[in-house]
Amino acid sequence: MNFRALIVAMAAAASFSGRSQEPWSPQDVAAISSLRLKEAGDLPVDPSNAYEASPEAIALGRTLFHDPRFSANGKVSCASCHVAERQFEDSLPRGQGIGPGKRRTMPVMGAMHSPFLFWDGRKDSLWSQALGPLEDALEHGGNRVGIARIMTTRYRAEYEKIFGPAPALQSLPAAASPTGPAAEREAWAHLTEGSRMQVNRVYANMGKAIAAFERTIAYGESRFDRYADAVASGDKSGQQVFTPQEVQGLRIFLTRGQCITCHNGPMLTDHAFHNTGVPQAATPDRGRYDGIRKLVRDEFNCLGPYSDARPEQCTELLYLAEEDTSQIGSFRTPGLRNVALRPPYMHAGQFTTLEQVIAHYMRAPAAAAGRSELAAHGERRTDKIVIHLASPDIRDLAAFLRTLTGPVSQSR
Ligand code: HEC
Ligand code: HEC
Repeated sequence: MNFRALIVAMAAAASFSGRSQEPWSPQDVAAISSLRLKEAGDLPVDPSNAYEASPEAIALGRTLFHDPRFSANGKVSCASCHVAERQFEDSLPRGQGIGPGKRRTMPVMGAMHSPFLFWDGRKDSLWSQALGPLEDALEHGGNRVGIARIMTTRYRAEYEKIFGPAPALQSLPAAASPTGPAAEREAWAHLTEGSRMQVNRVYANMGKAIAAFERTIAYGESRFDRYADAVASGDKSGQQVFTPQEVQGLRIFLTRGQCITCHNGPMLTDHAFHNTGVPQAATPDRGRYDGIRKLVRDEFNCLGPYSDARPEQCTELLYLAEEDTSQIGSFRTPGLRNVALRPPYMHAGQFTTLEQVIAHYMRAPAAAAGRSELAAHGERRTDKIVIHLASPDIRDLAAFLRTLTGPVSQSR
């Protein structure tokens, strides 16, 4: 199905002041049904991680996710910023680990469905993503040899049960890493190629165990899913789970709000990157433009030596244009499930309420970096997405977004 064409046709067909009493057209029913959680189907499979379904890997990953010993100060774990009780986020505008980060923490749920991870998509698998924060000076601040050594000593038995014999790393320097401070980088450069590969292998396997655990964390159905089921089956009384205002909000979402152009599919994201003119945070951020360059050079990507995929399975990476200036200032479309439970919003927490986010789309200001894909308020353009919103729509849209709230489940 050509989704974009469908959306444009729907937007054109919708009357500007669409009323919630109007019955849904067949196109509306198809669009609403496509947003249901059940459309996501079975758990996605990552061919680059051969261990993701292993119960032992899941158990080890859960422990590693909560273990602060891998951090420079012994206090930071993944769970410090990805707090189960806070939608696996931290409620802060920007992540706070060893030091203050420049972007907002993202939820772990839904991540397994995305071909690219992080706001800028600089990683192409959950396991490779997990390796980033461990070495990031502002997050765990660990170093690769130190981390691999903890792994092969304290977790030796668990590790070997899953991945086979662990290398002996005792003779290596205490701290060495290709990304750390100068002394650590120098120590890393002096390691033999064989030692580096051994350390990298242990490091990658840690990521694979963590990813296996993260894959067990998922969104559950929301009130919206119940409403959409009722719409799909033509069950009028079942549709009572929505108030007229929520129905109106959904209608705007599908039509003149143009939200579904980017927030589509069961996670309410196209998993793609867009410049929507969100104000820049204090630290200038080119988003996806830099993310692509990092990804193609990453030894832990799908095509790298630590991936379990065959090259032809790395389709996303194989067809990526490396130098793409249209991506300057683009960020990944976040999924909207449980969005009401996890303010603040946007890649650096620029907005504190859903109403502010929607007001941003109503104005659609020009981008500070790169070019916004949205036409400014009142501007008629054929080369940009034209959003028609008026102030009263803000409440209706926000009411609809609040229906996307459901439980978070951990399957094991
Ligand atoms: C200091 C806080 C902090 C710590 C510690 C941390 N994260 Fe994150 N996490 C973030 C931030 C901030 C982002 C977004 C960063 C970006 O886009 O550049 C993020 C992004 C992610 C994502 C991407 C989700 C998506 O949809 O793309 C996953 C998954 C994740 N973290 C898992 C982990 C794991 C696993 C660990 C431990 C190894 C960890 N995080 C440690 C703050 C943290
Ligand atoms: C051109 C694609 C596009 C369109 C159209 C669009 N969005 Fe977004 N949306 C995004 C992107 C990209 C972000 C993240 C931007 C950033 O952080 O810089 C985002 C962020 C959001 C967020 C914040 C979520 C979070 O976790 O931070 C909400 C809420 C949201 N959009 C709702 C809407 C609504 C409602 C509409 C329709 C009025 C809409 N979007 C239209 C792409 C789009």
